[in-house]
Amino acid sequence: MKNLIKRLFNHFGYELCRLSPEEHLSLDDQLRFNYKEAQIYRALTASGQISMEEARYLFELVRESDPSRPIIEVGTLYGASTLVMCLAKHPGQTLYAVDNFSWNSLGISSAIHRAATKKRLEECIQHFGVKLIEQPAARFYAEYDDAPPALYFCDADHSYEAVKQDIAWAKARNSTIICGDDYEPQHTGVVRAVDEVGGPSALHGGLWRL
Ligand SMILES: C[S@@+](CC[C@H](N)C(=O)[O-])C[C@H]1O[C@@H](n2cnc3c(N)ncnc32)[C@H](O)[C@@H]1O
Repeated sequence: MKNLIKRLFNHFGYELCRLSPEEHLSLDDQLRFNYKEAQIYRALTASGQISMEEARYLFELVRESDPSRPIIEVGTLYGASTLVMCLAKHPGQTLYAVDNFSWNSLGISSAIHRAATKKRLEECIQHFGVKLIEQPAARFYAEYDDAPPALYFCDADHSYEAVKQDIAWAKARNSTIICGDDYEPQHTGVVRAVDEVGGPSALHGGLWRL
């Protein structure tokens, strides 16, 4: 019976929806939301993105970078850190934004996550030298044949092994500035991998620089 009702709704272009308990938790409990408002609220307040303190420091680092060489970001998510770097960099400087769309904080599919991020970065891609690389970091590393990065920003897989490999690659490619996000107690893998190569020389929020 439930399936029949569902199919009938779908046939006429409707969908029966209800917020999950986790979705409820991400809302403001002082307010009443309809389904559409709840999803828009969740999208506009999605977690996993760079904070203002971190963004301001990242902006400074990009300003310090050599504009004749590329910037590499691994871990783009919805493009928040990409937008900060795109604003700070020389318009002609290439910014490789690498993401395999394997994780997001909203629980949306990889295909929709990819499409939304691409749309959000559309102007940066068309006019400001941003190249969205839709593949795993390891494949990007293996195929990279551009100049030594002026700045490498690490914010993808936060496991110890992955961050260790990210930093090793950035160093092997003679990146001038090596930085990343989430040097915080809850990200033990990031802290361990960064500490093993000498620890942060500067830290703003969770934004570290070697
Ligand atoms: C913490 S989020 C990045 C946040 C983003 N830099 C910001 O500040 O808005 C991590 C991102 O890394 C991506 N990711 C995870 N593992 C990856 C891998 N092996 N290669 C490429 N991207 C990966 C996820 O899909 C996710 O979008």
